[in-house]
Amino acid sequence: MLTQDKVKELLNTLKDPFLHKTFEETNGIEEIKIKEEKNHVSVKLAIAKTNTAEQMQLQQDIVNKLKQGGAATVGLRFNQLPEEVIAKFQPTSEKDTSLLGGDTGTKFIAVASGKGGVGKSTVTVNLAVALARLGKKVGIIDADIYGFSIPDMMGVEQRPALKGNKIIPVERFGVKIISMGFFVEDNSPVIWRGPRLGKMLTSFFKEVEWGDLDYLLLDLPPGTGDVALDVHNMIPSSKEVIVTTPHPTAAFVAARAGQMALTTDHEILGVIENMAYFESQLTGEKEYVFGRGGGEKLAEALKTDVIGQLSLQQPYEEEDVFAPSVYQEDHPNGIEYRNIAAKVIAKFE
Ligand SMILES: Nc1ncnc2c1ncn2[C@@H]1O[C@H](COP(=O)(O)OP(=O)(O)OP(=O)(O)O)[C@@H](O)[C@H]1O
Ligand SMILES: [Mg+2]
Repeated sequence: MLTQDKVKELLNTLKDPFLHKTFEETNGIEEIKIKEEKNHVSVKLAIAKTNTAEQMQLQQDIVNKLKQGGAATVGLRFNQLPEEVIAKFQPTSEKDTSLLGGDTGTKFIAVASGKGGVGKSTVTVNLAVALARLGKKVGIIDADIYGFSIPDMMGVEQRPALKGNKIIPVERFGVKIISMGFFVEDNSPVIWRGPRLGKMLTSFFKEVEWGDLDYLLLDLPPGTGDVALDVHNMIPSSKEVIVTTPHPTAAFVAARAGQMALTTDHEILGVIENMAYFESQLTGEKEYVFGRGGGEKLAEALKTDVIGQLSLQQPYEEEDVFAPSVYQEDHPNGIEYRNIAAKVIAKFE
C-alpha cells in the first residue's frame, strides 16, 4: 500500500522535462491523494510547459513508477509552474546552444570603423590569422553583408559545404570564414533590406557549424548603420576594436563608431591605427603621409589605448600562395599584427 510519503519519495527524484530539475527542487508536487479502498493514487504536478509530448512521456513514467510501487490506478493532473520558478531554473534544454547562446566560451571581437576604406576588413583578416598563428581557434563572420570582401582578401575560392541543414565554414590559414560572398552568384549586389538582412546575420551564427572557437571576429560594415547596430544588439558580450587612419577627420568619424559601441555596452579593446606611416625602403625613414596622431586622439576620446600601428605596405608577393591581404608572419605588418593579437589575448585572459 502506497502512502503519501512513499509517493512523494518516488516522484521527488523525477525531473521536470524542461527544466531538468527534480520535482523536489522545483517544488513541483502540488497535491497527492490516496483512495485506500481502491488503491488509487492521484497526483497534481506543476511543470514548466504543459500539453506537450514531453508531458505525455512524463505521464507514462509516473504511472509506471506508481504502479510498480503498488498503486492499482493512477490519476494525474498538470499545472504550469509559476513564472518565477521557471525563470530561476533557466531551462537549459531550451537554451540557445549556438554561438549566440552565450555558453560556448567563444569571445567575440567586432571590428568597427567610422569611415569606409580605412582597412577594417584588412585588420579583421590579419588579426584573425595572427590569433590562429598563436594557436587560437578562430572564425570570421563577414558581417558587411553589402560590401563583403573577406573571401577575396584571403584568396578563398571554394564555397562552404552543407552538412544536413548546417553550413560548414570555409577554412583558410586556420581561420573559419563565413561571408555573404559565398551565397551570391557572380559578385552580384545584395539588395536585401530589413528583416531578411537580420535573418542572414542570425543564420551566420545559428546555422553555421562553427565547432569549438576561441575567438569569433566580425567585420562590421563601415559606420553606424542598421547592420552595425543589429550586430551590436545581437551579441551583447562582444568587445570591439576600432580602426582608423591617422588623419584627424577619420579619427573624428571613428569616434562615432566607438560611441555606438559604448552606448550598446560593448567594451572597446583598443584602437588600431592603419596606414599609420610609410617607411621608405631606401632610407628606412618614416613618412606620415596620412597625417599623424589620429589614433591617439581617438583612443583618448574613447578612454582606451592604441594597440597597434600598421604601416602603409602591401603583403609580400608570393608565387604559390594567393591571399592578397594577408601579411606574412615575417612581414613588418605581420609582426605588428602578432603583437596586437598578443595584446588582445592578454585583455581577455
Ligand atoms: N596598411 C595598409 N597598407 C596598404 N594598403 C592597405 C593597408 N590597409 C588596407 N589597405 C588597402 O586599402 C583598401 C581598403 O582596405 P579595407 O578593404 O580593409 O578597408 P575597409 O575599411 O574594410 O573598407 P570598406 O569600408 O570598404 O569595407 C584595400 O585595398 C586594402 O588592401
Ligand atoms: Mg571592408
